[in-house]
Amino acid sequence: MTTSKQVVPVVIIGKGTIGKLFGKVIEETTRNEYVVNYITRADSAEERSDKLKNAAIIMLAVKPKDLDGVLDEEVKEYAQERATICSFVAGVDSSAYAQKLGESARLVRVMPNTTTEVELGFASITRTLGAEPEDVQSIKEVLSSATTLVDLEESKVDEFTAVAGCAPAYFLRFAKVLQSAAEDLGIGAEDATTFVANTMIGVGLMVQGSPDEHKSIEQLINEVASEGGATEKAIQSLDSSDFNAVIKNAITSAYQHLKS
Ligand SMILES: NC(=O)c1ccc[n+]([C@@H]2O[C@H](COP(=O)([O-])OP(=O)(O)OC[C@H]3O[C@@H](n4cnc5c(N)ncnc54)[C@H](OP(=O)(O)O)[C@@H]3O)[C@@H](O)[C@H]2O)c1
Repeated sequence: MTTSKQVVPVVIIGKGTIGKLFGKVIEETTRNEYVVNYITRADSAEERSDKLKNAAIIMLAVKPKDLDGVLDEEVKEYAQERATICSFVAGVDSSAYAQKLGESARLVRVMPNTTTEVELGFASITRTLGAEPEDVQSIKEVLSSATTLVDLEESKVDEFTAVAGCAPAYFLRFAKVLQSAAEDLGIGAEDATTFVANTMIGVGLMVQGSPDEHKSIEQLINEVASEGGATEKAIQSLDSSDFNAVIKNAITSAYQHLKS
């Protein structure tokens, strides 16, 4: 006799970039184990409470400004006590949830980035308030096919968000400059996009290395910037414009915003 495993009901509140992205990966990779239901603004109060009442895992994927309303009006009222709450919301620490839901809320904070879309995400995971190690484990199980997860203490989550959560935009801003420089040289838009995509993927794979060979980022730069060559001149120009400080200042701005 075969015993069928129970399907775990997951509710995602907010179907924007992050909510949709995780919902899609969970549905595609863990079919038959989890069933994903979204709560959007289009749902009636009754639909919202019905979905929440049945949820074993509630994922919060709304903007920080909308969080209070969601916690006050719904999660507090309808969520079962045994539900694990997984919040993707940046810049709001567990003390704010404790005020709304009480110290016993089983809150796990996950700070993702959008590379989850291609199953290359890198996210932090943090156990807070009344969450048990099993709650963290259950979130790891549901998200592990979508993203790499690293355990992180809560005091470091904002710093992590400023570096890793925002990182796709940092890379993409740089990519956009290269793409437009290629176009300025007369390379067609499609080819310029291919050039940028191939280079980013290729560089990523080179940084990752292989079991046989692993080179540091510095080594990889030196392989392109041979002495006396054009790349060396370009790197010197970046240095004289204080490129490192520009990037670090951007990260600091993001961090200060999260802390404010
Ligand atoms: N995007 C990232 O790269 C990233 C990275 C790390 C963490 N995060 C965090 O992830 C969270 C979501 O970000 P996002 O980029 O996905 O934002 P988003 O695209 O704006 O999505 C948020 C969604 O929540 C919906 N929403 C707001 N209030 C709602 C309510 N009461 N009921 C149901 N739906 C509601 C919004 O609907 P409306 O549009 O109608 O308001 C919107 O569809 C944020 O807290 C952010 O800090 C994002």
